[in-house]
Amino acid sequence: MPATKPFHDVVHKRHSVRSFRPEPVPDEILRSVLEDAQRAPSNCNTQPWQTHIVSGATRDTLSRAMLAADNAGVHSPDFSFAISDFKGVYEQRAKDQGAAYYQAIAVPRDAYDQRRDASRRNLEFFGAPHVALLFMPEVGDNVRVAGDIGMYAQTFLLSLTAHGLGGIP
Ligand SMILES: Cc1cc2nc3c(=O)[nH]c(=O)nc-3n(C[C@H](O)[C@H](O)[C@H](O)COP(=O)(O)O)c2cc1C
Repeated sequence: MPATKPFHDVVHKRHSVRSFRPEPVPDEILRSVLEDAQRAPSNCNTQPWQTHIVSGATRDTLSRAMLAADNAGVHSPDFSFAISDFKGVYEQRAKDQGAAYYQAIAVPRDAYDQRRDASRRNLEFFGAPHVALLFMPEVGDNVRVAGDIGMYAQTFLLSLTAHGLGGIP
């Protein structure tokens, strides 16, 4: 098993990475990350996650399809992600995050084309060589399963950091 960093360092070093080197990560490391993530707790040990990792030409094809759909205004989210859903302090934090992000990449507030281009970096996976797609079954109101997926995702991200890698949800 590859050597990893102490837990405290890992928790504090993890952050959302939005720029990546293009070289693929060796399979052995990806497998080690998946094995770590698999240790996440879940309701009644149901482990309700299915992870697909896409790389290379498949990753490129997926990105192109998502960019084309976005260009055509075709969006089909499985759940709401409107910023306006957030109220009070949560709305403020979301606004602060957006402001800090656009300032960091030097995009002015009213430069809508540049903001749109920046937002489309999501659909280019920020240049990451691998994309992990997390699938979940529908179970009741989905709250328990979504909670489990969150625990899995955080364990996955912490493991990336522990392996000297980075990621973004
Ligand atoms: C469920 C989830 C979805 C997210 N979606 C995006 C996204 O679409 N684009 C993006 O740039 N960041 C996204 N983020 C990253 C958050 O902006 C980030 O986690 C937050 O600002 C805290 O920063 P940190 O991860 O660097 O600590 C997402 C985070 C989570 C947990």
